[in-house]
Amino acid sequence: MQTIAVALEHRPYAIHVGHGILPRLGELCRAAGLGRQVALITDHTVAGLHLGPAATGLREAGFKVTEVLFAGTDSAKNLRTAEEIFGQLIRAGLDRKAWVLALGGGVVGDLAGFVAATFLRGIPFVQVPTTIVAQVDASIGGKTGVNHALGKNLIGAFHQPRLVCIDTALLHTLPRRELVAGLAEVVKHALIRDAALFAFLEKNIEKAASLELAPDQLDWLIAANARIKAAVVVADEKESQLRAILNYGHTIGHAIESASQYGYLHGEAVILGMIGAGEIALQRGMWPAAERERQDQLLARLGVPPGLGRLSADLIAERTRTDKKRLDGRHRFVLARCIGQVEIVDGISDGEVRAAVEYVQRQHP
Ligand SMILES: NC(=O)c1ccc[n+]([C@@H]2O[C@H](COP(=O)([O-])OP(=O)(O)OC[C@H]3O[C@@H](n4cnc5c(N)ncnc54)[C@H](O)[C@@H]3O)[C@@H](O)[C@H]2O)c1
Ligand SMILES: [Zn+2]
Repeated sequence: MQTIAVALEHRPYAIHVGHGILPRLGELCRAAGLGRQVALITDHTVAGLHLGPAATGLREAGFKVTEVLFAGTDSAKNLRTAEEIFGQLIRAGLDRKAWVLALGGGVVGDLAGFVAATFLRGIPFVQVPTTIVAQVDASIGGKTGVNHALGKNLIGAFHQPRLVCIDTALLHTLPRRELVAGLAEVVKHALIRDAALFAFLEKNIEKAASLELAPDQLDWLIAANARIKAAVVVADEKESQLRAILNYGHTIGHAIESASQYGYLHGEAVILGMIGAGEIALQRGMWPAAERERQDQLLARLGVPPGLGRLSADLIAERTRTDKKRLDGRHRFVLARCIGQVEIVDGISDGEVRAAVEYVQRQHP
């Protein structure tokens, strides 16, 4: 097991990463000084696969565990579900010393984190992420929240976990489509911060997508990515705006998610968005063609989702205009300078965005 220290000024915490560490969860939570009573929040799918060892480990370590299950779909990540869960916590007698454990993907983590942030004005919480997206992204950084009928993730709070416990063995039950979507964020991390990680992916992307990496390689990969997310989040405390680089591929990606009415998984849309951002950087002369080719080749091997040609380029381009990161009528994009280094660029025109969307459509109809 390796431990990554997240050195936030007011609330430092540890991320433990290891293959098969779930049975040690109780011991790790005791060492973190958490109270005796815990609400373990998870979804039905994850409960069927991984709840047993998690709950047993906690009980054996002396914790009183209340199990809370919900549907776990993005459409259930809302205030109504949160309210139902509040009721269960009140009936179970949770007090201010109690805490919440999120066992699941980003949906469970966001909702359980939001419940922990707001129940009794905030109780501690622990993340046990079970998807790649959650292990390398959603569980780190303290963003919690729920969707509103008028938009995703509009209601929420920052609430840092006390501990993140990543068992990479849990990924073996994940469907391939979810693995690929998660690896999109991994490619993004490599592209924005880490050329050596990018080179590792160029050697191993097929093995990663079918989870045929050796346990120590998988641990290395997940830990490297958790470290990148944590480092960006910590640096952003002082140098605000740095966190924005995590949005590489996300402006066009979000627009595609919205224009397709969420017909793509988030990570799939980000794959298309990175190809689009690559095209803008290339056309601006910021990024050499050979480097853009390396990105697009890697994404092609990971698997670019089909069907973008069926959507209207106008609609996608229009949806980028409603992106919250847009400034003064021009677009703000994260663009690559070289593999491992990006820049935040203001003043991208509608025409550039539209041309990039059409490029992605031509390449991946
Ligand atoms: N807070 C943040 O910073 C942040 C960052 C990125 C994404 N998010 C949020 O995360 C959510 C997406 O998270 P996600 O991609 O993890 O998807 P998810 O939570 O919807 O999980 C995907 C599916 O996989 C199942 N699953 C989870 N773990 C499994 C396992 N080990 N084996 C088999 N099946 C498993 C789930 O039940 C679900 O059906 C979105 O709501 C998004 O807004 C938040
Ligand atoms: Zn993302």
